[in-house]
Amino acid sequence: MPSAPNLQEAVAEIAAEMRDRPDRGDVATYIPELAKIDPARFGLCVVDTTGAVAAAGDAEEPFSIQSISKVFTLTLALGMSGDRLWSRVGREPSGSAFNSIVQLEHERGVPRNPFINAGAIAVTDVILSGHQPREALGEILRFVRFVSDDESITIDKAVAASEQRTGFRNAALANYMKSFGVLQNPVDYTLGVYFHHCAIAMSCRQLAMAGRFLAHEGRSPTTGLSVVSPQRARRINAIMLTCGHYDGSGEFAYRVGLPGKSGVGGGILAIAPGKASIAVWSPGLDAAGNSHLGRIALEKLSRRMGWSIF
Ligand code: DON
Repeated sequence: MPSAPNLQEAVAEIAAEMRDRPDRGDVATYIPELAKIDPARFGLCVVDTTGAVAAAGDAEEPFSIQSISKVFTLTLALGMSGDRLWSRVGREPSGSAFNSIVQLEHERGVPRNPFINAGAIAVTDVILSGHQPREALGEILRFVRFVSDDESITIDKAVAASEQRTGFRNAALANYMKSFGVLQNPVDYTLGVYFHHCAIAMSCRQLAMAGRFLAHEGRSPTTGLSVVSPQRARRINAIMLTCGHYDGSGEFAYRVGLPGKSGVGGGILAIAPGKASIAVWSPGLDAAGNSHLGRIALEKLSRRMGWSIF
């Protein structure tokens, strides 16, 4: 009888293979601070539902989580407003780029889903709901530290400032939504919180820890306490599967077969429900803005461990 695949061995072998590959994609340059990152970096970390951790490569090095933060802001906003959130943002794949504006004109300024930039800005606006930006940001950071069991997680202020200086497209999206009444706070407040939560810096290990509640029916495996209900965890995973990689979501589901959320910093958080939370980091991106080698590594890991949900 074939023995069960060894997780630590799989993680180490995949990381070694990725380190040597020449095809690494292109590092994002539209946020100037991200253009400085070394494309040779590669990290991989898996935390399974027994709490066992397997890590390899640069798994301890913090990177800019960017759009992966949208998983945490979606979770928080659902906790604050429940299903009323869905009047401010949809939950259908967009089939467009992450920073696209085109659908907003015909859809009353309501973004397609919480992971495209417009949708994440609308979600941030819900979290802000009349509070000061500093308070809303504190709430987001506290939540990320809580689900990761790690008080050391911080925001990279240089990355946030870099995006604040150059985020003209996001400003356009936010102003456009404001004109439809979809945003309720001052646009510069909402954008300020959005840029800062995208600039949270985490290592693969911290991110894999943060994703555990989604792999564990909404509960923290450390304390056994509920973070979200099992149904909500399933639904967040469903949105990650259908929208987490923008117009690369179909390809990711086809190849990896797991819910996942990417960020332009080159990170991906993937969830194998009931089995593991996985974080990978390789800064070079593909044409859709998703980590090129990150996706390939996840495809190999999922196949080797038999973790595809299909
Ligand atoms: O708003 C932006 O453009 C970035 N802060 C986040 C975009 C992002 O991570 C897209 N992901 N692949």
